[in-house]
Amino acid sequence: MTRLAGKAALITGAARGIGLAFAEAYVREGARVAIADIDAERARHAADEIGPDAIAVDMDVTRQDSIDKAVAAAVDAFGRIDILINNAAIFTAAPIVEIDRADCQRVFDINVSGTLFTMQAVARHMIARGGGGKIINMASQAGRRGEPLVAVYCATKAAVISLTQSAGLNLIQHGINVNAIAPGVVDGEHWDGVDALFAKYENKPVGQKKREVSESVPYGRMGTADDLTGMAVFLASEEANYIVSQCFNVDGGQWMS
Ligand SMILES: NC(=O)c1ccc[n+]([C@@H]2O[C@H](COP(=O)([O-])OP(=O)(O)OC[C@H]3O[C@@H](n4cnc5c(N)ncnc54)[C@H](O)[C@@H]3O)[C@@H](O)[C@H]2O)c1
Repeated sequence: MTRLAGKAALITGAARGIGLAFAEAYVREGARVAIADIDAERARHAADEIGPDAIAVDMDVTRQDSIDKAVAAAVDAFGRIDILINNAAIFTAAPIVEIDRADCQRVFDINVSGTLFTMQAVARHMIARGGGGKIINMASQAGRRGEPLVAVYCATKAAVISLTQSAGLNLIQHGINVNAIAPGVVDGEHWDGVDALFAKYENKPVGQKKREVSESVPYGRMGTADDLTGMAVFLASEEANYIVSQCFNVDGGQWMS
C-alpha cells in the first residue's frame, strides 16, 4: 500500500517507541520521514535502519530555535512538510503533595508548549506553501481522566486534546486537518519508566504494575507501537480530509472499561 506516496512527514520523538513505529509505517506507505528527536544519536541510528527515505533531525521541542531549525531541515531535505506528528513527550508521577515545580514545568514545556509551537511552526510552513496538510497530536487516555499519582502528565495530555480542538478549528480554513490519537497502555521503554515510578509510589515489585494494566485491558494485553500505526496512516491520508479536531482512542477498549 502506498497511501502516503509523495508525502513528507516530520515526526517528533521518533528515535524510539511509538514515533519510530510511525516513521517505519509512513515509509512503508510511500512517504519520506524526518525523525526528529533530542536523542540525536538514536535518531541517526533509526534513520540509517529505515533507509534513504528517512533522515534524522536534531530537535528539542522546548527550544524555539531548535523547532525552527528542525522544520527548516525537513523542508530543505524534502522541499515540503505535508504531515506533522507531535509525538515527543515525557511522563512523570508523584502524589499531589510531592509534585516538584521544576519537574511540572519541564513536562508542560515538552508535552504542551512543544506540541503547540511545533504545530505553529509547521502550520506557518503549510499555509505559506499552500495545499494544506495533516497534523496529528499524541494525546493519551491520561488526558481523558485524572489519576491519583499522575496529575501533571494527565493535565498535559488534557491540554493536548484541547489544543487539538482549537487548532483544528483554526487551521481547517487552510486545509490543515488537526486531530489526535489517544493510546491506552503501550509496551516499550516509556512504560518501563512508568512501571518504575509506580513501583516506587505504590510499593510494588518492578513489573507488577505492567502486569496489572495488561490484565485490565479488554483486548487482553497491552498495546504495541504497531497497534497504533493504522490510525496514524489513516489520519495522514486523504481519506481523513473531512475529520477535524477529533481525538481517537486506540486502546484495546480501555476507555470503555
Ligand atoms: N507508551 C504508552 O503507553 C503511551 C500511552 C499513551 C500515550 N502515549 C504517548 O505517545 C507518545 C510516544 O510515546 P512512547 O511510548 O513512544 O514514548 P518514548 O518515551 O518511548 O519516546 C519518546 C521520545 O521523545 C523524545 N523526546 C523527549 N523529550 C524530547 C524533546 N524535548 N524534544 C524532542 N524529543 C524528545 C525521546 O528522546 C524519545 O525518543 C508520547 O506522546 C506519549 O505521551 C504513550
